[in-house]
Amino acid sequence: MTHAAPSPIVPKVWIAGDVLDAPRARVAALDHGLTVGDGIFETCKVVQGEVFALTRHLRRLARSAAMLGLPCPDDALVRRAVEEVRRAVLDDAGPLPLGRLRITVTGGAGPLGSDRGAAEPTLVVALGPAAPWPAHIAAVTVPWPRNEHSAIVGAKTTSYAENVVALERAHREGAHEAVMPNTAGNLCEGTGSNVVLDLDGELVTPPLSSGCLAGITRELFLEWAAKDGLPVAERDVPIGDVARAADVLLASSTRNVQQVQRMDGRAVLGSELGRRAVEVFERYAALGMDP
Ligand SMILES: Cc1ncc(COP(=O)(O)O)c(C=O)c1O
Repeated sequence: MTHAAPSPIVPKVWIAGDVLDAPRARVAALDHGLTVGDGIFETCKVVQGEVFALTRHLRRLARSAAMLGLPCPDDALVRRAVEEVRRAVLDDAGPLPLGRLRITVTGGAGPLGSDRGAAEPTLVVALGPAAPWPAHIAAVTVPWPRNEHSAIVGAKTTSYAENVVALERAHREGAHEAVMPNTAGNLCEGTGSNVVLDLDGELVTPPLSSGCLAGITRELFLEWAAKDGLPVAERDVPIGDVARAADVLLASSTRNVQQVQRMDGRAVLGSELGRRAVEVFERYAALGMDP
């Protein structure tokens, strides 16, 4: 069960100062991002041609770069690349109702091993259409733990093979997302989302020490929910609590805050608190594109 390709609009890619149709954009065969996954990225939602929360995404990109010891291209260059690719898509297809912008930075051309070369980092900015998520969302838990003690915990790296395998498992089970524990057996996150549970009338999400990504949607949700007086808490919960939650919510840039209707085969009816969580996020997000 995949998140289907939306439309025939060809994604555009900014690379080395040029904007190209995606099939024509190339990186070097020995780019360290390709050979060993030495890279970082950001995925941003685009609404009516405008990028949401770009400032926060650029801040996290710089944090991820620092964690990997990668030189991060400066903000002004990345913003220029984003603007150029955005303009190119706009000229071709008009303002995309819903799009997905991806900023990737890698170690650049390097040796065949894990050591880095002296090359400049590679910057790639891609923008294409995105399909809206279906109304009915299914998720499953998978047994493979996230390592909350990893040297690069919290960095949004291009080493996503674990996520790919977990998501494939979810798809094989008819679900859209896989939710993972950490090595302590606590809830961590989804392959591309943070998780919020309604547990006994409280919206609980794992703390960053669980090993989850510091999701932009998560951080905005925590801020806005608290402002609106919703009961929210960041605390560790055993992965087994997913089975007893009155509501299971996924938070990510492409999803916003989204209720899950089926969790590990169990129908989740959804709670009033969960519905309010979705509504609060939508309401505050509508106030501005760069919160
Ligand atoms: C592993 C992981 N956790 C959480 C998230 C959610 O982060 P954000 O809200 O910044 O999109 C993502 C986003 O893709 C992710 O890859």
